Amino acid sequence: MLRYLRHAPKMWRSEVNDAVVARLAPTSHETALDIGAGIGAGTMAAVKSGSRVVAVEPTPYMRRILQLRCVLARVGDRVRIVDGTAEATTLDADTIDAGWAVNTMHHWTNLDAGVAELARVIAPGGRVLLVDEDFEDPTHPDFESFGSKRADDHSHHFPTVDPKVVEAAMKHAGMTVTFAGHDSIAGRPSIVVEASHGSDQASA
Ligand SMILES: C[S@@+](CC[C@H](N)C(=O)[O-])C[C@H]1O[C@@H](n2cnc3c(N)ncnc32)[C@H](O)[C@@H]1O
Repeated sequence: MLRYLRHAPKMWRSEVNDAVVARLAPTSHETALDIGAGIGAGTMAAVKSGSRVVAVEPTPYMRRILQLRCVLARVGDRVRIVDGTAEATTLDADTIDAGWAVNTMHHWTNLDAGVAELARVIAPGGRVLLVDEDFEDPTHPDFESFGSKRADDHSHHFPTVDPKVVEAAMKHAGMTVTFAGHDSIAGRPSIVVEASHGSDQASA
């Protein structure tokens, strides 16, 4: 818990989450999915844009803070907070139009299961954006405070996510990958995988 509390201000609102939601641009007619929502940086950005959001988060106190945040922001039933993981969201199949995960992929216990679950819940034509900031890139603004120590943090199942491995898993699960590699998100070096479900777009 203390590990996350240190980062609470950055998890309340973050430019990376704002940029991810802006890139996916969920509309007021759509249902979005925030995987590993934390205390709701992405969820609150999306609900402001008018969409409904399902916030899947396995850590109980994070869910409680997000619940309080939703009450304070009077979002009503537009946010549903769910006890789940990337690997097991508990959501019904084909119910999500736009899904993202910010800084959670390195926590997933089973990449293939997480990707298969995404493919199951994302509706045909739905879109996905997975982003892990690359704190191990020396040009990342938080490299000194976070990235250089990360290899010793055993809570992370793999310290650096390989976008090509994620891409292969997504293709295997029937997703169309439009980008998998390193990119700058809100000026921060990041590992990015962007995909859609069942569309005919060419793979980049
Ligand atoms: C660094 S926080 C990021 C939270 C939020 N996405 C953000 O950008 O502020 C990582 C989150 O991943 C969650 N998490 C841990 N294991 C997970 C899993 N297997 N699937 C999905 N989320 C997970 C943690 O509970 C935590 O809220």
